[in-house]
Amino acid sequence: MLHDVPVNLGDRSYHIHIGAGILDRLSGLCAGVGLKGKCLIITDENVGGHYAAIVKASLEGAGFSVGLITLPPGEPTKCGEQVFALHSECVKAGLDRKSFIVALGGGVIGDLAGFVAATYLRGIDFVQVPTTLLSMVDSSVGGKTGVNIPEGKNLVGAFYQPRLVLADLDSLKTLPPREYAAGLAEVFKYGIIYDAAFFETLEANVDGLADVNNSELLARMVGRSCEIKAAVVAQDEREGGLRAILNFGHTVGHAVENVAGYGEYVHGEGVAIGSVYAARASVAVAGLSPAECLRIEAMFRALKLPVNAPRFQWPDLRKALSVDKKTVGGMPKFVLVSAIGKSSIGNEIPEALMEQLWNGL
Ligand code: NAD
Ligand code: GLY
Repeated sequence: MLHDVPVNLGDRSYHIHIGAGILDRLSGLCAGVGLKGKCLIITDENVGGHYAAIVKASLEGAGFSVGLITLPPGEPTKCGEQVFALHSECVKAGLDRKSFIVALGGGVIGDLAGFVAATYLRGIDFVQVPTTLLSMVDSSVGGKTGVNIPEGKNLVGAFYQPRLVLADLDSLKTLPPREYAAGLAEVFKYGIIYDAAFFETLEANVDGLADVNNSELLARMVGRSCEIKAAVVAQDEREGGLRAILNFGHTVGHAVENVAGYGEYVHGEGVAIGSVYAARASVAVAGLSPAECLRIEAMFRALKLPVNAPRFQWPDLRKALSVDKKTVGGMPKFVLVSAIGKSSIGNEIPEALMEQLWNGL
C-alpha cells in the first residue's frame, strides 16, 4: 500500500510517498509532477549496488535520459570539494535548467545532492529517494540541504525543497542493523516532542521495532514521523522558532559526535545519548515526571542504543557546545519536554547542572 504524506508549503509543496517495493514507481511519480528530460542520479557505493539499476531502468523506461554518479559512502563525502566536482558532472551530463537530480541514499547523499541541486544553475529540481530509516523520517523531508566544512558540520547549506520524496521500505532490508537502530532514535524523537499517542504505539510495539520485514509497522512509523515533520516544517520552514523542536537530543548529541571524532558514533547514536540527557534535564528544569523520563530512557535501552558515554569529560563536551549552531551568547539552548508530547525550545540549563547531568548519565 502506498502511504502519501503531503508537505504543504505553498508553491513549494510536495508529497512523500511511502510503501514497500515502490522504487520502480519513481518514473511515474516524477512525470506526475511535471519532471522531464535529463536527470542525474547521485548515490553512494553501498546503495548504488543494490538500487541504482532499478531506479535508472524505471526512469529510462519512461523516456528520461539518465546519468549516474556513484560516490564513496560516509560523512566525508558530504564536503565542499564534492559539491564542485558534482557541478562539473552536471555540466558533463548536459543538465540544463529543466533537468533534475535524484538523490538515492541516506542523509549524506540527500544533503549533498540537494545542495548541488540548490546551487547548480542557481537551482534545478531534485527528488529524494531516501534509503536509510534516518533519511526517510528526517533528512529527506523539509528541505535542509548542505555540506560540512573543516570548521564544523552542516555549516554551509540552503533550504531547498525536493519536488517529491519516495521512501521504499524494502530498501531498509539491506541497511546495516546499527544504522537502522540509529534511525529509530529519530522516530522516538517525534513521539517525545510532539505526539504522546505515537510514543505509546512505539512502546506497545517495542519488540517488533527492529524487524525490517514488518512492513505494516514500518509504514506506520515512517508515515507518522513524516506527518509530524511535515506539520512542523509547514508552520516554520526556515526554523524561525517551532522547527527547532526537531533538535531534541541534538545539542548534546552533536557534541558527543564532535568530541568522539565523526565516525565513531553514527548520528542517531549521538541523538540517543543526547535524548536521554535532555529527558533528565527536562525532569530537572522543565517539570517532566521521573516516570515519563524512565519511559523515554527505556525505549533507547530496548533498542540497545547508547544512553551515555562516560569516557568523555564534560569540559570537552562543553567546549564543543560553545560552537554549536544552537548556542547563543555562549549558552547552549536545549529542547526540553514538560511531558511526553509537549516540548519547548530555547531552554538554558545552569552551568553546574549541565555538568552534573552529564556525570549522572
Ligand atoms: P548515511 O547517508 O551515511 O548512510 C549510512 C550508511 O548506510 C552509509 O554507509 C550508506 O552507504 C549506507 N546505506 C544507506 N542506505 C543503505 C541501504 N538501503 N542499504 C545498505 N546500505 C545503505 O547516514 P544517514 O544516517 O542516512 O544520514 C546522516 C546524515 O544526514 C548526516 O550527514 C546528517 O548531518 C544528515 N542529516 C540531515 C538532516 C536534514 O534535515 N537535512 C537531518 C538529519 C540528519
Ligand atoms: N533535522 C532537523 C530539521 O530538519 O529541522
